Amino acid sequence: MRTAVAIVGGGPSGLLLSQLLHRAGIGSVVLERRSRDYVLGRIRAGVLEDGTQALLRRAGVGERMDREGLVHDGFSLAHGGGTHRIDLAALTGRSVMVYGQTEVTKDLYAARDAMGGTVLHGVEDVALHDLTGDAPSVTFRHEGADRRLACDFVAGCDGFHGPTRQSIPAPERREFERVYPFGWLGILSETAPVDHELIYATHGDGFALCSMRNPRLSRYYIQCRADENPDDWPDARFWDALRARLPAALAEALETGPSIEKSVAPLRSYVCETMRHGRLFLAGDAAHIVPPTGAKGLNLAAADIHYLSEALIAWYGTGDAAPLDGYAARALRRIWKTERFSWWMTSILHDFPDRSPFERRMQRAELDYLTQSSAAMTALAENYVGLPY
Ligand code: APR
Ligand code: PHB
Repeated sequence: MRTAVAIVGGGPSGLLLSQLLHRAGIGSVVLERRSRDYVLGRIRAGVLEDGTQALLRRAGVGERMDREGLVHDGFSLAHGGGTHRIDLAALTGRSVMVYGQTEVTKDLYAARDAMGGTVLHGVEDVALHDLTGDAPSVTFRHEGADRRLACDFVAGCDGFHGPTRQSIPAPERREFERVYPFGWLGILSETAPVDHELIYATHGDGFALCSMRNPRLSRYYIQCRADENPDDWPDARFWDALRARLPAALAEALETGPSIEKSVAPLRSYVCETMRHGRLFLAGDAAHIVPPTGAKGLNLAAADIHYLSEALIAWYGTGDAAPLDGYAARALRRIWKTERFSWWMTSILHDFPDRSPFERRMQRAELDYLTQSSAAMTALAENYVGLPY
């Protein structure tokens, strides 16, 4: 088997890259370890920056998003018993779209199918070869047979736990990490969202987030211990804890009902500065992780794919290798700024068990400043709607 770009990982990064390359006449094969149902069963964040929306439209997968997505011109911060709205539209002239990552992934699969794209599911034992020469290849097992895919380039889009990053020799990898001393317990319920916009709440018991997927499907999170077992959280306990963290008027308005999904996610910041090894290029969660506060994971992956697809298209179009050579540096400048924002939003909104009384007062003062200064709110808003590419 031979293709131009071998893409390891059929999550949003890999599929979007495959789709953008296809539209530029460049072939690719996507190798995904899991089944399609499994990939589509993962529930992830659901806020798209306008740059991500534009990229999805450019990839030819924006039609359902534009029809079903919810345009949000603002969100609220709740603290000290009140709420404060961050008016994204007034502060930046831009907005975000609430549309679940699962839906984005579904649309990408549908587009790959419609264009006859090759996505192999259930691949095992992916191994990369000859990355530093000009004829790399990927070997794997698929449907009981050993296969070899010859290619020009390999895109490592296999998420945080995938194998491609490990193909970069350890001495060349520069990794930076912060693991937060808490997680998020999230539920999905077929209830009306408590508000028409998102609410990020901070409280002595910990952070809470009221989000949504559509007008009859709510997504709520509460800060919990990193090793929390979701089975210890019957629905009633979850709703009580959420209500306690919300201002009284919202707590009263909260519609509760049975959860249809419940899971705990750890919070981590991580960057692998080395995003290239010879003809291997990393993108998305394979190269970096942000904590979910601010919903940057998918948006950051989309920005990587924008840079990487442009660089590959330039190489195939004119033979110009400069954009590929500059890919990591270009992507990392934006990655670090988005890492900073996600870390900052996490640090002002959560209860850190190890914070000193002084640090707690600093946190309170920061929130107070944020809700009183239009300069501070603008800084928050411009990061939330997304930094330019
Ligand atoms: N072989 C093939 N595929 C693999 C392997 C492997 N050995 N290991 C992992 N994968 C697949 C996973 O099953 C997954 O479908 O790679 C895919 C990676 O997808 P994601 O983890 O969704 O990462 P990415 O596509 O970069 O998307 C980034 O997803 O994780 C969220 O917060 C993140 O929203 C962001 C977005
Ligand atoms: C979500 O809807 O799942 C969501 C929204 C905003 C976030 C994180 C997650 O910051």
